[in-house]
Formats: sequence, C-alpha cells, structure tokens
Amino acid sequence: MADNLCRINGIGAYAPARVIDNAYLATLVDTNDEWIVSRTGIRERRMVAPGEFCSDLALAAAEEALKRSGIAKEHISHVILATCTGDCVFPSTASIVAHKLGLKDVPAFDISAACAGFLYGLEISRGLAAQSPDACVLLLAAEVLTSRCNWLDRSTCVLFGDGGGACLVTGSEFPRGRGLNAELMDVITRADGAYTDLLYIRGGGSSLPYKVGDIIGDEYFIHMDGREVYKHAVRNMAAVSREIIERNGLSGADIDLVIPHQANQRIIEAVAGRLGVPVESVFMNVHAYGNTSAASIPLALYEAENEGRLKPGMRVLITTFGAGLTWSSALLKII
Ligand code: ACO
Repeated sequence: MADNLCRINGIGAYAPARVIDNAYLATLVDTNDEWIVSRTGIRERRMVAPGEFCSDLALAAAEEALKRSGIAKEHISHVILATCTGDCVFPSTASIVAHKLGLKDVPAFDISAACAGFLYGLEISRGLAAQSPDACVLLLAAEVLTSRCNWLDRSTCVLFGDGGGACLVTGSEFPRGRGLNAELMDVITRADGAYTDLLYIRGGGSSLPYKVGDIIGDEYFIHMDGREVYKHAVRNMAAVSREIIERNGLSGADIDLVIPHQANQRIIEAVAGRLGVPVESVFMNVHAYGNTSAASIPLALYEAENEGRLKPGMRVLITTFGAGLTWSSALLKII
C-alpha cells in the first residue's frame, strides 16, 4: 500500500509559557493531584497568556519548522491548519497565520477533525503532493482548548491544554531539506457521526446560536462522556493501527516507535497492550501538556526528535482519536 508520494520535512512546536499544575486546578474544582495523575497521567498543562491566540501558537510552530527544515517560506504552496479552537468562526485561522508569515496568494484553510486533525491534514497533504509533486504544504495544528474548558467541571477541565505544532509536507520532486525527514508511507482516516453526543461543544454553533445579550451558558464549553470516549478511543485506535500495519505487509514487531494521541496515559497504555507493543516503544509527553487535541501529535513528534528517538530507518506508527468521532493512523519511515 506504500505510496511514497510525499515526505514530512522539518517539525516545529510551541507551547505557551504559563504552566498550570494539578495543585492549581485543585483550587478551582474539587480534585487533587493523586486523582488526576492516577486516572490520566497528566501532571501539568500549558495555557495561553492574555492576548495569545491559536494563530500565535501556530505561527511560532511554523517558524520553528521552517528554521529546522531550512526551507524558505517562499516555497510554501498551501497552508492547512487543523484546529477546533481557531481565532474566529471565520475567517480561517490558516489565513491569519499565512498573513502573519508574510505569505501572499497562497491557498490557506482550516480543517475540523478535533484530535485527529493533524493526521487528516497529512491525508489531505498527501493528496496535494500526489497532484503536484513540487508541492510544499505547511501543515499546522494548534489549539487553545483552555478557552473552551468549563472551569467548574472537574470531569473535563483537568484534561486539556494549549499548544501548537507544524511540519512541511513535500512532494516527490521537492528537494529534501534539513531536520526531520520522513516518508509518509500510509495514512488511514475514519469518522463515525453516530457518536457526536459523546464529545462536543454546541454553544455558538448554528444548532445553538446566541443572540446579542444572551448569557453564555455551559453549552459553550466542552461536554464529554469520559467513560464512553475512553472505550471508543482504545478500540478504534487499536483497530485502525492493526489495519495500517497489516495493509503495509508489516507486523507489530516491525514498528520501532508508536506516537499516540496524548489524551490520557491509561488510553495510551491500553492501545499499546492491544497492539502488543512494549511501553518503552511508545512515546509519551501527556504528563507535561495534557490533551492538546490536534496539536498533540506534532508536539510529540517534535519532542521525540529532540530526545533523539527518531533515527533513520525507523518505522513510526502514529495513531489518534477525537470528537466526531474521528480516528486515524499513519505510518512514517524516518529517512
Ligand atoms: N477529580 C476528582 N474526582 C473526579 C474528577 C476529578 N478531576 N473527575 C471526575 N471525578 C469523579 C467523578 O465525579 C466520579 O465520582 P462518583 O463516583 O462519586 O460519581 C468518579 O471520579 C469517577 O468518575 P469517572 O468519570 O467514572 O472516572 P473515570 O475513571 O472514567 O475517569 C476520565 C475519567 C479520566 C475522564 C476517563 O473516563 C477518560 O480518560 N476518558 C477519556 C476521555 C478523554 O481523554 N477525552 C479527551 C478527548 S478525546 C481524546 O482525545 C481521546
């Protein structure tokens, strides 16, 4: 199934400076460090400063990815941003980032696939690279989930954090840059809208519009059935990962590193267990950032690269899951 039509070149990430630890959350809601760590593995998360927006996180990550790859921004052919917490309802945050980067006449748009957004973006970028082998897609993922947390709801507010990530996805005729270089071997993306009620924000959407003067209610914030989401996350990430491994003629033993969506340590360990992958071969940074939704995969890839865990010849399995429901897996070969 391997296409080898495109590469990931360079990786960048950015997390806001402000650290919110579990002790601070215990001053807001009836929770404690022991509960949060034992149920989720999360010890702290980052939060934007006043005046710091989704586009700022994406921009900082983009600048880092460009610097590491050595690719000049003038080569960018498309800007795609995965987010569910963009700067505005419209225009797209991708357009705002493109402008902040000084790009003109470059197509820019957002994609909404919640936590699976970065891999959906890889799928779209792969298609663009197949169509135009000289394409150089700036693929971004950034979230300000703290803007949609209900700080009175202990069952959700302890889980999420802010962050951004970026990479360049280049076609087969685009010259190889510096930094991380990986062949995108394959991607599978999936969705099932039958389960929208498990994880959603409705307030402000056309299904629950506000009128001028309305009081913002709790519908404006994240709603989640945690137990059900947990079950679907484990089942679907394991299934789509098995599928992508098998359709590429591989077995679990051929996977050198798994980079899963950083939602919850228990979910990650359960998926690894189902795949028969030892925990040492699974990258985790959920303890430091919480769930940054679409940004979680590029943030993890960035830290994995910084820690020297991505070596030429390695096969890396990425898997993710989010509202929609959406889920996805991708296979990379580090080159
Ligand atoms: N602190 C202390 N107690 C809490 C907290 C908290 N922060 N949150 C909930 N509780 C309480 C509940 O009120 C409940 O109390 P009760 O028994 O008196 O009613 C008890 O803890 C157990 O609650 P559960 O919801 O059953 O706890 P569970 O063990 O399922 O853990 C969790 C909750 C961590 C949310 C888990 O279901 C989970 O990880 N789900 C996946 C959710 C997720 O990661 N979503 C992110 C988006 S999708 C994605 O990215 C995968």
